Amino acid sequence: MARKDSKPLHSVGVLTAGGDCPGLNAVIRALGKTLIPEGVEVYGFLSGFTGLIDNRYVKLSEEECSGLLTVGGTILRTSRDKPNKMPLPDGRTRDMTGAAIESYKRLNLDCLICLGGGGTQKNAYHLMKEGGINVITAPKTIDNDVFGTDVCFGYDTGMTIAAEAIDRLHTTASSHHRVMVVDIMGNNSGWLALGAGVAGGADVILIPEIPYSMDVVADSLKQRMQKGKMFSIVAVAEGAISHSDAKMKKDKSKKDKKKKEAAHTKEPVSAILAEHLERATSLETRITSLGHLQRGGIPTPRDRVLCTQFGVKAGELVLKQQFGQMVAKRGEEFIGVKLSDIVGKKRTVPLDHSLVTAARSVGTCLGDEV
Ligand code: F6P
Repeated sequence: MARKDSKPLHSVGVLTAGGDCPGLNAVIRALGKTLIPEGVEVYGFLSGFTGLIDNRYVKLSEEECSGLLTVGGTILRTSRDKPNKMPLPDGRTRDMTGAAIESYKRLNLDCLICLGGGGTQKNAYHLMKEGGINVITAPKTIDNDVFGTDVCFGYDTGMTIAAEAIDRLHTTASSHHRVMVVDIMGNNSGWLALGAGVAGGADVILIPEIPYSMDVVADSLKQRMQKGKMFSIVAVAEGAISHSDAKMKKDKSKKDKKKKEAAHTKEPVSAILAEHLERATSLETRITSLGHLQRGGIPTPRDRVLCTQFGVKAGELVLKQQFGQMVAKRGEEFIGVKLSDIVGKKRTVPLDHSLVTAARSVGTCLGDEV
C-alpha cells in the first residue's frame, strides 16, 4: 500500500489528548488492526503529549488492540498538556517541543497519530511545522466542534447520554410540576445541547451560538402553563450566553473592566437561569448538571462504527504516507483534510442549520426573539 517512491514504513506513535470520550479505544483498535498486520510497529504514548515529551510509551501488540471496541476512556490515558506550553510547578510554562521531537526520533518513528479535539489538531500541527515530523490526526470530542468534518467521534455517545437524561427528567418534572434546567457540556458550541434537546423534546434549548433573553425564556414557560403544561425542560449548553453578556463581550471598545468581569461570571448559566425562572413562573425549579457522565462509559454502536471508520482511514493515510492530514467524514466518505486548512477554526452550529430549523418548527424556544 505504500507509495512507490517512498521508503517502507517501520513504526508509528499514537496518543490520545484533551478531554477523553467514549470511542478513543475503538479508534486505537482499528489503527492497530490496520497497521500491525502490515508490519508497522505501533507505540502508544501515555497521557497525551506529556508521554511524548517524557518518552513514556508502550508497544502495542495485535492482542492488546483486541477487545477494545466497547471499552470507554482511553487505554493510553490523556492530558490537556501542550508541548509548547508545559506547566511548571511555579505556574509558569516551558516550551518542550524539542523533547517531544527527540522522543519521536529516538524511536525512529515514521508518523505520530494524534487523536483529539481542536487543541490536539493545533498541537499536532505545531509539531509538524516546528519539528518537521509526520502527523495524522482524527477528530474526537463530544462537543462535535472540530472544524472540517461533518461529525466527531464521541458526539453520538455524549448526545445519547444527555438525551436519556432529559427523558428521565421529563417524568419527574411532570410528576412534580417543576422546571428542570439541564446543564449540558459544550463550552463554545451547542451541538450537544441542541442534539440532545431535540432528541429529548426539551421545551427550551440554549446554545452559545444563539444568545438568549431571559424574558423570552420565561415567557415561553408561561405560555406552556397557560396551556395547562405545568412543567418544562430547559436544556442549557454550558457556554450559553445571554444577549446582554454577548453584547458586552463583543464590545471591545468598552474599557469598563468590572462589567466585562461580570460577563465572565463563574456562576454556571444554569444556576442563573434556574433562579430567574423560578421567580418568573412560581414553579419549583431544579438543576441537573450532567458533567462528565456525558464523557464516560461505553460508546454507542453508531460511535463504534464511526471510530472504526476513522481509525481504518487514519491507518490507510499512514500506509499511503499521506501525512499532515486529519481524517474527516464528509457525507458518507472518509477523507484526509490538510491540517493547515482546519487548525485554529471552530465548527459551531450555523444559525440556519436544519437542526435549528427543526427545533423551532416543533415549537422549541431557543431563547431569541423570532
Ligand atoms: O471535551 C470537551 C469538554 O467536554 C467541554 O464541553 C467541557 O467544557 C470540557 O470538556 C470539560 O472538561 P474537563 O473537565 O476534563 O477539563
